[in-house]
Amino acid sequence: MIKKTFYITTPIYYTNALPHIGGAYTTISADVLARWNRLLGKEVFFLTGTDEHGQKIQETAEKAGKKPQEFVDKIAQAFQEAFKMLNISNDNFIRTTNPYHEKEVKKILQKLYDQKYIYKGFYEAFYCVGCEQYKTESDLTYGKCPLHNRDVELRKEEAYLFKLSTFQDKLLRLIKSGKLNILPEERRKEIITFIEQGLKDISISRLKEKIYWGIELPFDKKHTCFVWVDAFWNYVSGLKTNQDKFWPADVQLMAKDIARVHATIWIALLLALKYKIPKMMFIHGYFMVNGQKMSKSLGNVISPVYLTATYGADSVRYYLLRNISFGSDGNVSESSLIDRHNNELANKLGNLIVRVSTLAEKYGISKTKITHLKSEKLIKTFFSYLDKFEFDKALNEAFTFIDACNTFVQDKKPWESKDKKVLYEISNAIKDVTILLSPFMPASCKKISQTFNFELSLKALKTPLQVNKIKKSEILFTKIEATPKIANTNLNKSPKIEGIMTPIDFKDWQKIELKVARIENVEDIEGADKLYKLTVNLGTEKRTICAGLKKFYTPSQLKGKKCIIFVNLAPKIMKGIKSQGMLLAAESPDRSQVTLIQPEKDIKEGSKVM
Ligand code: MSP
Repeated sequence: MIKKTFYITTPIYYTNALPHIGGAYTTISADVLARWNRLLGKEVFFLTGTDEHGQKIQETAEKAGKKPQEFVDKIAQAFQEAFKMLNISNDNFIRTTNPYHEKEVKKILQKLYDQKYIYKGFYEAFYCVGCEQYKTESDLTYGKCPLHNRDVELRKEEAYLFKLSTFQDKLLRLIKSGKLNILPEERRKEIITFIEQGLKDISISRLKEKIYWGIELPFDKKHTCFVWVDAFWNYVSGLKTNQDKFWPADVQLMAKDIARVHATIWIALLLALKYKIPKMMFIHGYFMVNGQKMSKSLGNVISPVYLTATYGADSVRYYLLRNISFGSDGNVSESSLIDRHNNELANKLGNLIVRVSTLAEKYGISKTKITHLKSEKLIKTFFSYLDKFEFDKALNEAFTFIDACNTFVQDKKPWESKDKKVLYEISNAIKDVTILLSPFMPASCKKISQTFNFELSLKALKTPLQVNKIKKSEILFTKIEATPKIANTNLNKSPKIEGIMTPIDFKDWQKIELKVARIENVEDIEGADKLYKLTVNLGTEKRTICAGLKKFYTPSQLKGKKCIIFVNLAPKIMKGIKSQGMLLAAESPDRSQVTLIQPEKDIKEGSKVM
């Protein structure tokens, strides 16, 4: 029998910074759906990856003093490592700098050009480099992009345009008829209103002399391709030889920031190229930090690597999907993660497993008719919630059932009665709830299935537990006693999380070179209200550095002082001055005081700081 197929995608993430929990959220959700559909017996293709071209990445790499390819290679690797830590089961990880992808993009560009969907013109519009998207005036707040809180650029230049306007009516028909299913409903309505306001043709190229970090247009080598056209095609090229089997996608997940471009440009490209359109786009919400989207450009990101290394992949996966209703905006906090880890995973699920497996190992189990812990209702509701992407409700239902299991154990006291039938009834219930939870917490559920000897499959869900020897389980979720690093912090309220949340490797720390220096001269910088220009003597050399000390020291307070300099930092141009290092200073938690870090005793300039 031919298996039903299921193709699910996530957006591909920009490689201008390390992965953050926002992107991990979409990928975890997609992973749950991929695993769920595999459990249902479908043949699944799950694609995620990185978006590696464009102005934003070109500029970030340049600022870091790196070649863009070298820069994106590192970040793409970090994404893959983070996804591995999170136990993501993707079938391919697409990178848009992959030569196969680039070749495929050139092919479609040529096709669109030959069929006159692309024409040469002149383009004038506002552009936000943070979003890598064109903006209308109504998108802006006081001339800035509200998502990135940065000025937009007015772009006026010769460009190739894509005839997006010709697809306006067709797009509306597809969305209104449900042929392109956009969920949740509220997002569908927003997109319809947006398209009804009118779609203009869009520029799909930039002059190569300005943006060289992109795919060259095959019909005009003076231009590179707009990063979105290149990025969209990942959804097809990422299937490699599996296109016929899996295209069109069953579900495309994304957050609301990129729903419009998908519902317009992406679908119009497919229509122009005579490809089938995806069956569904599901738009989830944002994690908010201080009422703003968590984003790399705003610098308020939480690292998934830190969370996973600290709490374990299953806790992070469970927490994110349990805490936020998929489709709505939500807050995340380390303290609420710890609460759920302790109360729900360690106390409820973990204790149940250890307790029951210990008793079953001691007394054995004996098959019986299930009278109390019937799981039919749980299974039915769980399925219907997952059909609607209501992960939080499905998990809630599972934990209500786990509560019932714990109450049953408490009532029946099998440690006194040694009742093998009671132990069978609970073990069978554990089987059912574990199979349902397995897409969410794959590693722990696998361990439970090995303890109680059942398969994580749909067949096992429908069959009573086989009587087998059960071995006492290891502790699945260790209780976390410590308060989070930032005591009881709601991450939502803490804009300065980045440094604390991102652990660095010892190897990386060893790369940092610190030396003692003497401040020889301090000068004002015209137009700078925080920075001084310092000349520091490092024994064998003198260097110029810019330091934000103006509000805290007068020049004479600094002159002659010894300080510690971070010497092997890439130079940076600040207010037109090349700053060749950074000095160490401490900042009070409320940021009102800054003090220079100085060696305790006098020591020669140039001494190494260990
Ligand atoms: N590269 C484009 C997408 C191209 S797809 C053809 C892009 N990349 S991104 O790195 O900015 O990632 C966008 C996606 O990351 C969002 O659509 C969402 O899936 C996820 N998230 C990024 N920040 C997020 C939050 N703060 N909250 C929830 N999801 C977030 O746009």
